[in-house]
Amino acid sequence: MKKQLEKIESLAREEVLSCEDIKMLDSLRVKYLGKKGEVTAILKQMGRLSAEERPIMGQLANKVRGDIESTISNKLKDLKQAEQDKAIRNETIDITLPGNAKQIGKLHPLTIVANEIKEIFIGMGYNIADGPEVEYDYYNFEALNLPPDHPARDTQDTFYITDNILLRTQTSSVQVHVMENQKPPIRVISPGRVYRSDAVDATHSPLFNQIEGLVIDKGITMADLKGTLEMLMKRLYGDDCKIRLRPHHFPFTEPSAEVDVMCFNCHGEGCRVCKNEGYIELLGAGMVHPKVLEGCGIDSEVYSGFAFGLGLERIAMRRYNINDMRLLYENDLRFLEQF
Ligand code: PHE
Repeated sequence: MKKQLEKIESLAREEVLSCEDIKMLDSLRVKYLGKKGEVTAILKQMGRLSAEERPIMGQLANKVRGDIESTISNKLKDLKQAEQDKAIRNETIDITLPGNAKQIGKLHPLTIVANEIKEIFIGMGYNIADGPEVEYDYYNFEALNLPPDHPARDTQDTFYITDNILLRTQTSSVQVHVMENQKPPIRVISPGRVYRSDAVDATHSPLFNQIEGLVIDKGITMADLKGTLEMLMKRLYGDDCKIRLRPHHFPFTEPSAEVDVMCFNCHGEGCRVCKNEGYIELLGAGMVHPKVLEGCGIDSEVYSGFAFGLGLERIAMRRYNINDMRLLYENDLRFLEQF
């Protein structure tokens, strides 16, 4: 019996030490120490021994049992440790590897220029006004002194939703909303999208962006308009920038002017860019027509004001020397990444 026990012990030790996973170790525990295990089987035979042998064998059997138990639990510790080491090894991050660089977006050139213009006007005490792009005929045309059948409507043909509702052709419509809702003094700019049924080419698009400006107060004159625009252009294009006002006609301003800015390319000499003019047309402006003021409930005997409307695309194209308006809408990253 003693030999048997020693044999079991050495076999168990060998098997346990060479065991490589926790499940297998568990089945070894059952095999040697379980109810039907090999050591238990020996213990069951104790009854057959003599009274002298019994305590000696009992002691030996218990020692063998204890030894196998501790061999198994030591091995279990080792296996668990190995498993944990492996998990840690698998989860470690190699911080010396190069990272995945994220591509960071940029502001669109139109947004850059719009933000700059807004900032210039906010600095001069203007507020920013918003208005609907889907507009009543009244706000886009009629209240701006363009009654139905007025010939000037033809130059701003647009997209009609009904006879009475259209996509606005100009942000001048916001003038009317502001004057209806606010008493003078008024100083606002309103940036936004406008629509005209134009064919797409290098300088035209059926959708483009305007910024309208409106100032109403006592004693506002054309000199205020000119000074304001001069200031704007100098801030946008540099201190040596000159502007020129040419007489023009808009139904909602009287007098009206077209505003040109000195050619950035030839500085007034005349070149290919300005078609030998020396100046480039940039925006429309004028003194708000008394009829428009009165229509909005503002006494034109007491108050006067100026308005101007500029095309954001044109300003951006002059600013960045872009020769085709379509580039601004195509979203080609090779173009956009340059700003
Ligand atoms: N709304 C005019 C246009 O789109 C521009 C303009 C605005 C002219 C304000 C005068 C005063 O052509």
